[in-house]
Amino acid sequence: MCGIISYVGDKDINSVLMAGLWRLEYRGYDSSGVASVMDGELEVRKVEGRLMNLQEILSDKPLGGKVGIGHTRWATHGEPSDQNAHPQVDCNENIAIVHNGIIENYYTLKEELIKKKHIFKSNTDTEVIAHLIEENYDGDLKESVLKSASRLEGSFAIAVIAASEPDEIVAYRYGSPLIVGLGKNENIVASDIPAVLDHTRRIVILSDGEMVVLRKDKVEFYNNKGERIEKEEREIKWSPTSLDKGKYPHYMLKEIYEQPEVIERNIALRMEDEGLNFGESFHFSPHELAHLSHIVIQACGTSWHAGYIGKYLFESLARIHTEVDISSEFRYRNPVMDGEPLIMAISQSGETADTLAGLREAKAKFLNVLSLVNVRGSTIDRESDSTIYLNAGPEIGVASTKAYTSQIFQLYLFDLYLSKLKWTMDAPEIEKRVKEVNEIPEKMRKILGSADNIRKIAEKYKDSKDFMFIGRGINYPSALEGALKLKEISYIHATGYPAGEMKHGPIALIDENTPVVAIAPHSSVYEKMLNNIEELKSRGARIIIIASLGDKRVKELSNDVFYIPPSEESLSPILIALPLQLFAYYIAVLNGRDVDRPRNLAKSVTVE
Ligand code: F6R
Repeated sequence: MCGIISYVGDKDINSVLMAGLWRLEYRGYDSSGVASVMDGELEVRKVEGRLMNLQEILSDKPLGGKVGIGHTRWATHGEPSDQNAHPQVDCNENIAIVHNGIIENYYTLKEELIKKKHIFKSNTDTEVIAHLIEENYDGDLKESVLKSASRLEGSFAIAVIAASEPDEIVAYRYGSPLIVGLGKNENIVASDIPAVLDHTRRIVILSDGEMVVLRKDKVEFYNNKGERIEKEEREIKWSPTSLDKGKYPHYMLKEIYEQPEVIERNIALRMEDEGLNFGESFHFSPHELAHLSHIVIQACGTSWHAGYIGKYLFESLARIHTEVDISSEFRYRNPVMDGEPLIMAISQSGETADTLAGLREAKAKFLNVLSLVNVRGSTIDRESDSTIYLNAGPEIGVASTKAYTSQIFQLYLFDLYLSKLKWTMDAPEIEKRVKEVNEIPEKMRKILGSADNIRKIAEKYKDSKDFMFIGRGINYPSALEGALKLKEISYIHATGYPAGEMKHGPIALIDENTPVVAIAPHSSVYEKMLNNIEELKSRGARIIIIASLGDKRVKELSNDVFYIPPSEESLSPILIALPLQLFAYYIAVLNGRDVDRPRNLAKSVTVE
């Protein structure tokens, strides 16, 4: 989704803004632009398409000056075009603004401003903010931003400069993330931490309704009444070099291969001799959790699939009634929340607008929220009562991979913890499962070691137009995830189904042109899965089975088999995820897709 970078300091404004925009590129965008104040005048360069287009324009016509704002836009209001790209400017070309989010009352404001003779040049909601600030401007940018922000409804993170005040940037946050990087004789505002790491590791995270005024040597924070406030500074320890692709052609492949290491890191952090440790942001007492009778998980996309696996885990092991809901449904359905359930929000980015809104719905009902989040300091992290971190490291590829397996891993450990507190599992059983957990990274490495087999299978099926993914029990959500991974990066239609549901409709789609990926490791539903596969095979489907190593029966049922090391059933979704991710990856690459930045998608979905 849109990205903001703004800089005040002595470095070359072109290189700083472009470097920041490249760092934000992974979020997804369709146009980009920059502006600065040069010799008392506003200069704007913006263009539709890839960042390379903007870089070329800047090589021909570079910007100058000490303050600048930059933006990658993911279109919401108005098609992707040069005109709709940000920065947007006011009538007098004095004020330039970049914006993330959606202004819900833009239409009313636009009508009001048109009556006051403002002339609009784009179809964006953002341009309304530029004219509103102009309308409220009487020589003090900070005051006019404050006044204008009070009229805006929706979500907005903005950074504003004015030709008449060439030494400062004013930024305001409401609903979309914004962070400040504190440098030496330079300061930065951006929508994400990676964009500032080339300059500083000292950051401040703005909360909703907060504003910051940045000059080269001074940073001041304000609340929405315009009163000065103090903000806590944090130091970022991870290195920007971990954002490189290394030896891999794509971030996605690199992140797939990082998964054993992510699980190993989490084993070291979570599994102590004295018991499980969910880290410094986990604030529940054992007593509280021992009395828990109901969990509601809400999340979007891949995180929702992990949550769905969580439902199977919590119900089968800790025996806790668990509901799982897609956040965009949860937030509007006014769910019955009797019995004080624990609400869980699952989000890699920690900024997904619907998941955040679901969390706020729960908080408004005075319910406890436990989140599983990868990005520390993100809004969901900060607004939750407790957070379990995924510790997956930055995930740059738009398709979630290593965050997903870490989400399942954390859910599994939390389930073991609850099972112990609720006495649904005895000590030897827990010990056996802990031993199994320790074997996961090696099993993952074995799967990755045979990636070439998956590539060969992908080559056979790369031209298919429709795929079906089926699974049962805890691997039904794995089938949903396999289908999502494939369609989002290859643009090939794919559907995930519970295998037992096929004959209630979808089996009508099956013919010799429909490859079916069947997830059938040894499990409590193994025989049922084989029956379902038989039914599809007899209708001509081409069958690819993911099976447990040593399983000979699947050979005669399938066109292709991919074997994974056997594991305890409730841990199997972690292993199953790997061949599904690799299969999607290779099919997408073989079809020439931009796997790290699939069309129309954004890494961090900060609008609903
Ligand atoms: C798919 C994918 C998305 C995200 C979804 C939620 O590969 O990455 O479906 O899972 O947009 O994002 P987070 O987890 O950041 O809340």
